[in-house]
Amino acid sequence: MEILIIGDVFSKLGRKSLEENLKKIKQERKINFVICNGENISHGKGMNEGHYHWLLEQGVNVITLGNHSFNQKSIFNIIDDAKCLVRPYNYLDKETRGKGYVTVNYNGIKITVFQMLGQVFMTDEVTNPFLETRKLLDEIDSDIIICDFHAESTSEKIAFGYAFDGKITCCYGTHTHVQTNDERILPNGTAFISDVGMTGPIDGVIGVKKDIIVERYFEESKKRFEPCDDGVSQFCAIVLTIDDNTYKVKKIEKLRILN
Ligand SMILES: [Fe+2]
Ligand SMILES: [Fe+2]
Repeated sequence: MEILIIGDVFSKLGRKSLEENLKKIKQERKINFVICNGENISHGKGMNEGHYHWLLEQGVNVITLGNHSFNQKSIFNIIDDAKCLVRPYNYLDKETRGKGYVTVNYNGIKITVFQMLGQVFMTDEVTNPFLETRKLLDEIDSDIIICDFHAESTSEKIAFGYAFDGKITCCYGTHTHVQTNDERILPNGTAFISDVGMTGPIDGVIGVKKDIIVERYFEESKKRFEPCDDGVSQFCAIVLTIDDNTYKVKKIEKLRILN
């Protein structure tokens, strides 16, 4: 089977890019299952109720979030009942609403998707993602297990990949919004990439209007972040080819399409 995983969809240009590319790729490459990171889909911060439904209409099977999970208030209208929505598993507050992982039955194949937040250069209060994943994997009995490791540091991501090599099907990074050139299958069979990259504007600074960010490096600027909503967009994703009998990954390929 073929699984498409789309990196952080950012605001208006991200949605435009997803609309322009997803249906075509699904048809051309006979994609069976789609996972998409939606933490920046609504004006760059969080995902509102409308955009959750919009992503499902576009043909996404599972949506992951990240450190911006709860930036849009209307997410709370759907988060308790949403069956295809994953927020970070390792929030310190165990009362946090939503699910840290979901298991979906796809034509008899059990697919689990979970998300962990990293701890290096991140501000959210979370428990150790390595220890949490070790415990979580004891609970899960699925054919295919996929982790969205939402983190800033490449070294933490690579260490995480090796820590669970052979125990999960794919570990991919999100959050930095910059696609890395290190996709590969690790020695024990786990497909890995440090960051899938962002689906959104290419002319901003990781999605935000570039002048606002550049100014902040020169002086104390209090200008609000605004998404870069015009110019060229990029669609960043990976495609996993999985053996239908063993459920091992045969191939990981990255995609970066400019529109
Ligand atoms: Fe993001
Ligand atoms: Fe993030």
